[in-house]
Amino acid sequence: MQKLVIDGGKMLKGELKTQGAKNAVLPVLAAAALCDGKVRLSNCPSISDRYGAIRILTRLGARVTGGAGSELTVDCSGLAEFPEIDDNLMRTMRSSIIFMGAALGRRGRCTLCYPGGCDLGPRPIDMHISALKKMGAVINDEHGRIECYAPDGLSGCKISLSFPSVGATENIMLAAVTAKGETVISNPAREPEIGCLADFLRSCGAHIKGDGGGRIVIEGVEELSQPEGEVFSIIPDRVAAATYLSAVICAGGELMLTDCQPSHMEAVIPVFEAMGAYIRCFKSNIYIQSTGRPRSCDTIRTMVYPGFPTDAQAVIMSALTCSVGTTVFVENIFESRYRHAAALCRMGADIRAEGKVAVVTGVPELYGASCEAPDLRGGAAIVCAALGAQGRTEILRTEYIDRGYESIEKALSSLGADIYRV
Ligand code: EPZ
Repeated sequence: MQKLVIDGGKMLKGELKTQGAKNAVLPVLAAAALCDGKVRLSNCPSISDRYGAIRILTRLGARVTGGAGSELTVDCSGLAEFPEIDDNLMRTMRSSIIFMGAALGRRGRCTLCYPGGCDLGPRPIDMHISALKKMGAVINDEHGRIECYAPDGLSGCKISLSFPSVGATENIMLAAVTAKGETVISNPAREPEIGCLADFLRSCGAHIKGDGGGRIVIEGVEELSQPEGEVFSIIPDRVAAATYLSAVICAGGELMLTDCQPSHMEAVIPVFEAMGAYIRCFKSNIYIQSTGRPRSCDTIRTMVYPGFPTDAQAVIMSALTCSVGTTVFVENIFESRYRHAAALCRMGADIRAEGKVAVVTGVPELYGASCEAPDLRGGAAIVCAALGAQGRTEILRTEYIDRGYESIEKALSSLGADIYRV
């Protein structure tokens, strides 16, 4: 089992290219299974979840080339019957569930099991299932195995989501683009990753409008394929960007983040400003400088986009552990997303988490400790905190962190951090 070793106290300085978005490349890879032909993707992050999605595509008969670089070519021409997506493939990540919509859209049937993913509390898929049933899918869901098929093909319909679920919105989009007739999704997710998926599907001939708003309208087409020679670029990862900005608050120093999209971070940037950091946003870069203890913030409530993103909650909490004052967090999206608080407290933080609420009272400094990453973003939060802590921190379960961050130790070492992997 690998671990990260961090000797805190080194300030950060330099420039870092923002990786492609994990939560955009995964649905786009699932969407590639809908295309009868080759699609070419660029700015794909080299993270383990990408390889999980490629293993599923390969299992379905796709040919994927591109190695570890940021370019990928996925050829799904002549895809035969979708064989069962086995357990160990499905359990590697939550986003495997959106292969259900793609399989139904392409072949009208699939067998898979409940997805895996970070343990953030219950992560049901009731909205996914009920929407696809409404489109004509027959879904047998027994003992964690899901068999679904659409004997008469899928038909467009009106779907109103009780909660703007990102995954459910993506699954419906993937099922609707080749369904018969029109699908209207009311109260869809508005995250930038939804827009990226819609842009990719449109580049393959889908008729989609309204993404990013309160109503997405999709007119089904016969089949999808990407024009020869077209390369689709994955949007930058707004959560990875927030992570490295938080690292600067924790360690002190300055950073120019390049190839990012500040317009996707309008709920996050003001939090760094409230902390007292010097931050400037340009078209596709963000510059941040911070020294000394940050100020505490007013209550931070996680909301669906364009509100403050739940995925940035953990790393922002790390940034505030040594603030002057107290900050209250309210986690409104997941039931159990404070598992990183225990590790931060082991490092000397003063955090009291109860249900949806966590109260962070700033302390003068943190101390290195031996910790386990509880999940992807919690692991990243411990890395950030360790950068500013006195002494050595060892972090186990790095596989969680590797699911969403491209070689986090190389990125931080390039900025002067004393971090390595053993
Ligand atoms: C996506 O997860 C992201 N993952 C998550 O990022 C992100 O935190 C989340 O959206 C919210 O933005 C990927 O895109 C791969 P949801 P998803 O469906 O689709 C409940 C990360 O760290 N719900 O919007 O699973 C659910 O339990 C990951 O990068 C139902 O009740 O999120 C949760 O409480 C973590 N029934 C809430 O909705 C359903 O059928 C939000 O879930 C579906 C969801």
